[in-house]
Amino acid sequence: MTALDARPRSGATLRFPERFRWGTATAAYQIEGAAAEDGRTPSIWDTFSRTPGRVRNGDTGDIAADHYHRMSEDIALMRRLGVTDYRFSLAWPRVQPTGRGPAARKGLDFYRRLTDELCRAGIRPVATLYHWDLPQELEDAGGWPDRETAYRFAEYAGLAAEAIGDRVATWTTLNEPWCAAFLGYGSGVHAPGRTGAVDSLRAAHHLNLAHGLAVQALRGAVPGTAEVSLTLNLHAVRARTGTPQDLDAARRIDAVGNRIFLDPVFRGRLPEDLVGDTAAVTDWAFVRDGDLRTAAAPIDSLGINYYSPTTVTAGSSPAPSPWAGAERHVRFVPVPGPRTAMDWPVDAGGLHELLLRLRDDLPGVPLVVTENGAAYEDYADPSGQVRDPERVEYLRAHLAAVHRAIEDGADVRGYFLWSLLDNFEWAYGYSKRFGIVHVDFPTQRRTFKDSAHWYAEVIARGGLTG
Ligand code: FCB
Repeated sequence: MTALDARPRSGATLRFPERFRWGTATAAYQIEGAAAEDGRTPSIWDTFSRTPGRVRNGDTGDIAADHYHRMSEDIALMRRLGVTDYRFSLAWPRVQPTGRGPAARKGLDFYRRLTDELCRAGIRPVATLYHWDLPQELEDAGGWPDRETAYRFAEYAGLAAEAIGDRVATWTTLNEPWCAAFLGYGSGVHAPGRTGAVDSLRAAHHLNLAHGLAVQALRGAVPGTAEVSLTLNLHAVRARTGTPQDLDAARRIDAVGNRIFLDPVFRGRLPEDLVGDTAAVTDWAFVRDGDLRTAAAPIDSLGINYYSPTTVTAGSSPAPSPWAGAERHVRFVPVPGPRTAMDWPVDAGGLHELLLRLRDDLPGVPLVVTENGAAYEDYADPSGQVRDPERVEYLRAHLAAVHRAIEDGADVRGYFLWSLLDNFEWAYGYSKRFGIVHVDFPTQRRTFKDSAHWYAEVIARGGLTG
C-alpha cells in the first residue's frame, strides 16, 4: 500500500497524500535586500556581485525583492496561496556577522518575527541554515576548503537554534553543497569564484563535515519534534548510449555529483570509485578519522532540488570545470526538446527517476522535493496580468512525476515550489524570473502570475486535475 491509498475524495484526479506538505521556497540573499542593515556584514555573494563581470548587468542583492522590509506582505501572499510550509534561509552574516562569536540581536530578531508571523499564519517554518552566503571574513580565512569553516558553521547553527528553535518545524543544514563546493571553488561561476580541483573537493568534504557537526548542534538545542534535514541537488544523470565508455562517464558524474554527498551522509564513507577517479588530484588526506562518522549523524529526511536531467558521453569538458577528476572523461550533451529561459531542458522524467533511485538506495528515508520550478520570460500585460502558461505546464508535469513516484512507492512527503517571488538568480542577476509571484523591481509591486492562481487551486484540491 502507498500513502495514496488512504485519502478521502476531493476534486482532484491525481490526489496527493492527506498530510502532503505544499510549500514555496526562497533564499536570503536572493530576496532579502537590506544588505548593510542591522549589523549584517558582507557575504561572499556581496563581494562576488560587486566584482565586475561576475553577475549579469552588475546586479547585486543589495535590495533584491526587499523582503527584509516586506516580510509581512509576503506572508500574506503565502496565505493567499494556501501553502502549508515555507522554506526560507537565514543569512549567516546577519545572524553572526563575522562568522565568529556572539549572535547579532537585530539580525536574529528578523527571523524571530518571520517565524512568529508564519506560525500565526498557520504556515510551518522550514529553515535552511546555509544557502551560499558565507560571511566574507570566513572566506578571507580560507572559506570552505578550510576545515575551520565547518566548526564555525556548527557554532552558527547552535546560535540560530537557540533563537528560533522553538518555532522551526524543519531545519535544513545546507542547500545544495554541490553548488557551494564545485561552482564556488571549481568552475568559479558562483561566489567566491575560485577555480581549483583540490579546493572544490576539500570544500565538499568540509561541507559534509559541517553538515554533521550542525546536525549534532541542532539536536542538542531544538525540541525533539523538530526535523533535521539536508538538501541536495542530485543530478539525474543519463548516459547518451549504453556503451561502456558512456556508462562510465555517467558513473563518474554520479560519483562526484551525487555520491560524494550521499555516501558520507547516509553510509559514513566516501565512494571508492570517487577516490580512484580523483587520485591524480588529491589523496584525500584532509579527511580525518571520525569525519565521515560525524557526517553520517542521522537525519529525518532528505531534500531534493530538481530542475532538469543531465546527459553525458565520453569526452572532455571545458576548463575550469566543476567536475574534479571527471573533466577529462565526460562531455555534457545537449538534448533536443523544450527548454526554460535558463536553457535547461524540460523533462519531468528525471525527477521520477531520481525519486525512485532514492526509494531503492535509501529505504526508510522520507523524501521532500525542496525546490522545483522554472524561469520564463514573464511580464505584466497592459491589464496587469502575468500569463505564464509554460510555467504552469512545467509545474503540472513535475507534480505529476512526484505523484507517479509516490504511486511507485517513493516516500515523498512534500513539494516546495521554487520560487515564491522573482528574485536575484545568482550569476544571472535579475534577468531570470523563477517566481510564481511577479516582482516589479523598481516599485517592488507583487502580482500573482497565472501559475500562482493555479498552484493555489492545486493546494486547495490536494492534487491535480486531468
Ligand atoms: C538552485 C538554487 C536556488 C535557485 C534555483 C533556480 O540551484 O538552490 O537558489 O537559484 O537553483
